Amino acid sequence: LRAGAPRHFLDLRDFSAAELRGLIESAATLKRTRRNGKKPLTGKTLAMIFEKPSTRTRVSFEVAIRELGGEAVVLSSREMQLGRGETIADTAQVLSRFADGIMLRTDSAQKLHELARHANVPVINGLTDLSHPCQIMADILTFEEHRGPIAGQKIAWVGDGNNVAASFIEAAARFNFTLHLACPAGYWPRAEVLEWAKAEGADVEVGIDPEAAVEGAACVVTDTWLSMSDSPDQAAAREAAFAPYQVTQELMALAAPNAIFQHCLPAHRGEEVAAEVIDGPASVVFDEAENRLHAQKAILAWSLG
Ligand code: CP
Ligand code: NVA
Repeated sequence: LRAGAPRHFLDLRDFSAAELRGLIESAATLKRTRRNGKKPLTGKTLAMIFEKPSTRTRVSFEVAIRELGGEAVVLSSREMQLGRGETIADTAQVLSRFADGIMLRTDSAQKLHELARHANVPVINGLTDLSHPCQIMADILTFEEHRGPIAGQKIAWVGDGNNVAASFIEAAARFNFTLHLACPAGYWPRAEVLEWAKAEGADVEVGIDPEAAVEGAACVVTDTWLSMSDSPDQAAAREAAFAPYQVTQELMALAAPNAIFQHCLPAHRGEEVAAEVIDGPASVVFDEAENRLHAQKAILAWSLG
């Protein structure tokens, strides 16, 4: 972090293990003390730009900033001049004059980085085509609430090697857990993130076999087969490629006894996960959704505080 530079929250890899651990501890404290009346972000405004739909990210950020004493301005890029060709650089400078922070959900990580380069206030990644770091902070908090410290545990990712998977890979390096991914050929995580993880000494393995990946795992995670940045034209090809990767009861039975199931939501029952898994006793998906609020409060307090 450069002295005086805005405290952006762009990707987990930008932070040290200790910094991310500090944010998780702060999130847990903020959760425990949710209604204690403290308002550390009084008078602060967060501008939120959505180029893509959202339920959890939008509502959890909006409620988070409000509970911390600040306010949110929620913008859809379609209704902004951004949607008519105004540059990201100009948008960044203008919003920096009005708001104390900017959250962006976009289908292009390049746009996020451009926004961060030109903004004088912190920029927070609310999902790009390449990563979803706020989600994974909530996922770590959720795992640890249910199963204790994540360091040294085995987590299995089954399905698409997508944006959420990429942030999980970065988390494996920083939180020191084992991550085995099973993804069909052609849908592996990007080589860049796998090489990064390797260089960091992370215990990350990718294969094509879901049964091998989940064996003995304390947590099984999956996500949609068609992300918001994927073309709907790919739906049929993806459905065919991913059909053997559904998280079923049979697959969960190969994980550790009492293994939990995580999914960032929105979910598609009968596609990436069987209804009896996501609606069954192993599922912690609604704790995970709630924890978006607490994790993001910690991120907001650090960035804007
Ligand atoms: N998990 C997640 O980011 O959900 P939304 O798309 O609803 O924000
Ligand atoms: N991988 C999904 C996550 C949604 C929260 C997507 O990008 O659409």
